Formats: sequence, C-alpha cells, structure tokens
Amino acid sequence: MHPRASTILRLFHNTDGCVSGEHISRELGISRTAVWKHISALRNDGYRIEATPSRGYRLVSSPDRIDEHEILARLINSRIGQRLEYFTSTASTNADAFRLAESGAAEGTVVLADAQSGGKGRRGRVWSSPARVNLYCSVVLRPAIMPYEAPQLTFLSAVAVARAIELTTKLVPEIKWPNDLLVAGKKVAGLLNEMSAETDGINFVILGIGVNLNMTKDQFPGDLRHPATSLFLESGIRVDRSRFISTMLNELDRLYSDFLTHGFGPVRDEWQQRCNANGRQVLVSDSGTECTGGRFIGIDEDGAMLLRSDDDKLHRITCGDVRVL
Ligand code: BTN
Repeated sequence: MHPRASTILRLFHNTDGCVSGEHISRELGISRTAVWKHISALRNDGYRIEATPSRGYRLVSSPDRIDEHEILARLINSRIGQRLEYFTSTASTNADAFRLAESGAAEGTVVLADAQSGGKGRRGRVWSSPARVNLYCSVVLRPAIMPYEAPQLTFLSAVAVARAIELTTKLVPEIKWPNDLLVAGKKVAGLLNEMSAETDGINFVILGIGVNLNMTKDQFPGDLRHPATSLFLESGIRVDRSRFISTMLNELDRLYSDFLTHGFGPVRDEWQQRCNANGRQVLVSDSGTECTGGRFIGIDEDGAMLLRSDDDKLHRITCGDVRVL
C-alpha cells in the first residue's frame, strides 16, 4: 500500500469516518485528482469508501484481513509497533520474534501472523492457529529488570488483552491465574512469554499472545483440556482483526510505559481486580494430584499466587491448575 493511502486511512480513523476531498488534498499536499486515485486504490484493496458530493469520503468498512498499514495508522504511541513484521503463515510468531531479538531487533518489534503451523502453548502444548480468524502476535521487550521479575510482564499482557476485549466488544473478560483469559468461563486467549537472560539481567522478553477472535465451533480441536471459545462465538459479532490488534498494542504500550515508570504495582492491582478468583475460595492441584485449598489473596512480586487456608496459613503457589469453588 502507498504510504499516502495509509495517511488517508489515518485521517478516516481520526474523524467519525467522513473526510472531505479538500481536507485530504490539503493534509497530503496533493491534487484532488491524486486523492481520487488513492481512494480508488483503497477500494481495489477491499476498503468500502462512499463518496457524497457535499460531505466527501466516508470509510464504511475495511477488508477482513490483518492489514499492517491499517494497524500502523491506529497506533498512538511509538514504542510498541515501531517495527511490524507480518507473515501470512509461519511456524510460531514467538520463534520468529526470538530469532529477531537475538539478531538485535529493537524493543517494541511486533511479529504478527495470519496462521501458525506450530503455534506453541504453555507446558509444551500446541496452540491451535487456523488462518483468517484469530490473533497470533509476539512482542520483543528489553526492560532493565532481573530475570525473576520477568513473569510480571505476563500479567501486564493479560491486562492489555482484557482491556482490548472490553474496548472492542461488550464482553467482560476475566483472568484466570496465571495467565488465561476467560469469557463466560471459557478460555478465549493464552499468553506465552519466553526470555533470554543472564544471571544479572535479561537480554529480552518475548510476549506471545494468542486471542481467539472469530474462530467458529468447528475450528476448535476436539481434545481440548479446558473449554475454549472465541469473541465471535460469545458476542455474535465478527471482530475487525486489525482494529483489535492496534487497540491491544496501544494498551500494551500504555501499560508498559507505566510499568517502566511506576513498577509492577499498578499492573498487579488491575490484574487482581480482573482475576476470577479475587477473594474467593479456590482449590489448586498440581499434576492432578496434590491439592491446596484456601482463599485467594492476590499475587506477589514474582507473580506467585497467595492463598490463605482455613488454619490461617499463607501459601505461596508457583504452578498448578486453579479451580474457583
Ligand atoms: C497458552 O498455552 O495458553 C499460551 C498460548 C500462547 C499462544 C501464542 S499465539 C502467538 C504466540 N506464538 C506462539 O507460538 N505462541 C504464542
């Protein structure tokens, strides 16, 4: 796409969607004929743009595909998304981002894919990643923190995804410790962070984010351990993927800037408010056997879950499956 077409999209997004030809020609310093040519090119690209003689052009809808320029046009801040790599298909965006980071990619580099052939989930599981429906994204960060503090960034990405879901749909997501996002009790997004570190600091962290946006029932694998869903299945409305991605990257950028200035506190507070176990009685099992029960108190600086059992003992849990009673 021509960079000027990208600027025209930005003008549409900064208004209620209606921009006069005169305004576009003034902003871009080009003739009205050139404006018309760019509008035609956008239409050929799948954008529905109406032209009304008295009001100008109005963006009615954008094509249903991940569109790098559409995403860039909506980014408010410059740290996250300053470089964007998009693949129609790849094995895993986390693996791509890791490779890019190893060869020096700057903080804020984002890798996106329409489909993954080897999407990675937690604990060596597979993350189902069909084409044309979901979000598969990995972000390179290089914060000056210690390796033990890196899990804090998973909590940060969980909050960013929860905010993006709320801003895009009418759904109210919940976070399940440590980092699953649920809608109506079913998993709608998963996060997988990977890092490269030395003993005295980290080289980089990859935030891996997978969100089921428009996936339909028949696209879910049959052998899921926990019930899963998509935003489309829960709301009945198709999600504009490029819009969702830019909203999420903007929230990630805001939260990360706050994190660098104020530390983990604000993220932890919001995460706890959004957690499905907040103040409730839970049961944690590890490998399906040992169980610890108690009231969920919150998370500590390392992201461990704090539980108070009936005998008033405080338990610190670092892994396991949580069941809210
Ligand atoms: C989980 O098991 O809940 C974590 C799933 C994380 C999936 C995302 S999709 C984008 C990124 N690339 C991967 O290979 N995995 C993560």
